[in-house]
Parts: sequence; C-alpha cells; structure tokens
Amino acid sequence: MTAPASFDLAGRVALVTGGNRGIGRGIALGFAQAGAAVAIFGRSVERNARVLAELQATGARALALAVDVTDRAGLEPAFRRVEAELGPVDILVNNAGIANLSGGILQETAESWDTVIETQLNAVFLLSKLAAASMAVTPFDERTSGLTAVE
Ligand SMILES: NC(=O)c1ccc[n+]([C@@H]2O[C@H](COP(=O)([O-])OP(=O)(O)OC[C@H]3O[C@@H](n4cnc5c(N)ncnc54)[C@H](OP(=O)(O)O)[C@@H]3O)[C@@H](O)[C@H]2O)c1
Repeated sequence: MTAPASFDLAGRVALVTGGNRGIGRGIALGFAQAGAAVAIFGRSVERNARVLAELQATGARALALAVDVTDRAGLEPAFRRVEAELGPVDILVNNAGIANLSGGILQETAESWDTVIETQLNAVFLLSKLAAASMAVTPFDERTSGLTAVE
C-alpha cells in the first residue's frame, strides 16, 4: 500500500514501538513511504533487522533498536540515540503491547498483570514524557498517538 500524496511526512522523525511486526510494522512502513525517518523499538533482533531492511528499501533513513520497553532504565538512552541519529522526534506511536490470553482472572498471575501494566501503561507514560520534551523543542502539529490497550 502506498501513502496518499497528501500524507507527506518529509523531514519528520517518527518512533514506533513494537515496530517489528503486526500493526507497528505497517505503521512504520507507512511513515517511511510518506517520507519520514523512522525508528522502531522491539526486543527481537532478528525481526528488527528484517523490518529495518524493509524501511531502508523505501529510501527512508531508519533505525531499529533492541529495546524492551519494560526496562525503564533503557528507555531514555534509546530515545536519545534516536534523536542523535535521526533528529528530534516529531511522532511517537506507543504501539508495543502484549495480550496475555490466560483464560481469565482465575488463571491470571500478579506477575503477568505487572508485565501488561509495565508494557501498556508505564512505558507509554515514560516514552510520551521523553517525546513531549523533544517536541517542545521542535514544535509540530500532529504528535503523540497511542494505540495500546490493556487486555
Ligand atoms: N491486533 C489487534 O486486534 C489489537 C486489538 C487491540 C489493541 N491492539 C494493540 O495494538 C498493538 C499492536 O498489536 P499487534 O496485533 O500488531 O501486536 P503483535 O503482532 O503481537 O506485535 C507486538 C509488537 O510489540 C512488540 N513488543 C511487545 N512487548 C514489547 C516490549 N516489552 N518491548 C518492546 N517491544 C515489545 C513486539 O516486538 P518484540 O516481541 O520483538 O519485542 C511486536 O513488535 C498492541 O499494543 C496491541 O495491544 C491490537
């Protein structure tokens, strides 16, 4: 699918968490086709490398970082690397998410609940704070988008 001409992101920098498969991959590729430089975060080095190649094949500047968004200490260094290599972040898509299909509350554990909250809420908050600071330095009118859901 190609981006419509009116959807022009030339000169913009986008960060898509969970960009190495599924919905995040589709968003990352759409942004790249629309002219943005695109960074993706994901844990799988192999999937990251595959999508990085796809992003670069569009002609976009791109970066794929092995980031676990539940590792709070790793978020700021990774975000700074995106800024250093691609420029100030204009667009953040908090897409990384997990669905724990345990069969219901009786099977659910506190540990898996914590992982969902860390992935789908806490990382979204922390990355949004970093991106908001970056955007305040370089204003742009269409900014943070959240896709995540707690399931
Ligand atoms: N598909 C649906 O019908 C649906 C419905 C409602 C909401 N959503 C939400 O939409 C988003 C994308 O859905 P999807 O179906 O495309 O999901 P998916 O195919 O399971 O992909 C999830 C992505 O998130 C990444 N991810 C997961 N945990 C991560 C972590 N701790 N750190 C970094 N990256 C992590 C995964 O990469 P790695 O495994 O390599 O880390 C992968 O790239 C999710 O937030 C999901 O909750 C989806």
